[in-house]
Amino acid sequence: MADNTLAIVVLAAGQGTRMKSATPKLLHKLAGATVVSHVLATARELDAAHVVAVVRHERDRLVEVIEIDLPTAIIVDQDDVPGTGRAVELAVAALPANFVGDVLVVNGDVPLLDSETLGGLIAQHRAASAAASMLTTTLEDATGYGRVIRSSTGAVDRIVEHKDASADELAVREINAGIYVFSTTELRAQLPKLDQNNAQGEKYITDVIGLLRADGKSVEALEVTHTWKVEGINDRAQLAAAAAQLNAMIIRGWQLAGVTVIDPQSTWIDLQVQLSHDVEIRPGVQLLGATVVETGAVIGPDTTLLDTEVGAGATVKRTDATLSVIGAGASVGPFSYLRPGTYLEADGKIGTFVETKNARIGVGSKVPHLSYIGDTTIGEHSNIGAGTIVANYDGVNKYKTVVGSHVRTGSHNVFVAPVEIGDGAYSGAGTVIRKDVPAGALAINVAPQRNMDGWVKANRPGTAAAEAAEKSNS
Ligand code: UD1
Ligand code: CA
Repeated sequence: MADNTLAIVVLAAGQGTRMKSATPKLLHKLAGATVVSHVLATARELDAAHVVAVVRHERDRLVEVIEIDLPTAIIVDQDDVPGTGRAVELAVAALPANFVGDVLVVNGDVPLLDSETLGGLIAQHRAASAAASMLTTTLEDATGYGRVIRSSTGAVDRIVEHKDASADELAVREINAGIYVFSTTELRAQLPKLDQNNAQGEKYITDVIGLLRADGKSVEALEVTHTWKVEGINDRAQLAAAAAQLNAMIIRGWQLAGVTVIDPQSTWIDLQVQLSHDVEIRPGVQLLGATVVETGAVIGPDTTLLDTEVGAGATVKRTDATLSVIGAGASVGPFSYLRPGTYLEADGKIGTFVETKNARIGVGSKVPHLSYIGDTTIGEHSNIGAGTIVANYDGVNKYKTVVGSHVRTGSHNVFVAPVEIGDGAYSGAGTVIRKDVPAGALAINVAPQRNMDGWVKANRPGTAAAEAAEKSNS
């Protein structure tokens, strides 16, 4: 049941200049999702009656993401008036006129914020019947944040922005997290009073706190002890720190669910990844996107899997795979490159220095060494010789290669597509297969070998090779 008395406003209109990026700040990613996606996921968990997202800078790119994550969100465009206060003003104007519940305002740049913390803030706000409630935390280095100024009784009096603060105020280490709950009625009463008389020439939402207190209204503060939960992303150093924090939590979650992670420091797992118990992850592994790993599989060391499925008991060593499926009991690596559309069936093998693309390799079939297999289907229990290249591209078009079951091809073959090799067929070493090979046939097209006796002695007299040959022949 949606909470009819709650509306959420997500502030996402800022420019994010400190990122120094062509990508808007809120679209930078951690754990495989954008900063704003994390915030919207948290908002979704609260099941509010209305969610409003305020956009401006790179608005189309943000709206595209917001509409996927939270299709019911009301999109509000901020105008030329800058500042978080203006953003909230326009968001509140977009709420139904008869909405009288609470408005939760969340900066869009706090990806690690969780719904329990927000739930706690809303509960405290409602229990105290406060006009406004805010999250605060105490930082070692409060640079850049708004400082929380409390009265001698300890009540919150106002918030002063870093750029507007006096030396005394700058010494305060309790900061405004940029997350507030307001009684809608009280908020509506104060918003028209916001001005731009400050160092940044912006309307600050933070000024509403001081205005409420000046009117004798009560403001609650909930202090968060885990500072990382409310730290904003303003530059890339903060982005990396938040990503590391989130990654550590994701890994710990999987460890407690029965996954062995040998070296959490060198392991990165996206939020969406699914793992089963008794999966083992060795050092230097990145599991990204919608990757799924089934029980007993061993991944790594030094492996990157993106949107890839790994079956039970498979081993994947020093491998890069994207949009691929690795079957149960299969073996991949070391040094394999699986490009999109690779489907290795159960107990199959893709070995050392093998590249695959759009290739189905059947149950128990092996491509063990030094090969390129593209646009190819291989049946069951076939073995592809070392150094086999599928020539699938004539410079204009790509063609398919079909290999049957129980096929044995020789080393250093080229399969010139389109071509078919029938069930149980063989090919000799060095064969260039340009014509279909019938089931059970042996294909060979290498010219017979000629040995020209005494060639080295005649043509390379006095060399080490000639001497060695002389010795060997005498
Ligand atoms: C803001 C707070 C500061 C607090 C800090 C916490 C104000 C004036 N200051 O500062 O007290 O300590 O967050 O992280 O609110 N945004 C808009 N429209 C705008 C400007 C910003 O929607 O015109 C959005 C941004 O996209 C961002 C959020 O509001 O998601 C915060 O903006 P930002 O510029 O990062 O504010 P801070 O300077 O960090
Ligand atoms: Ca910020």
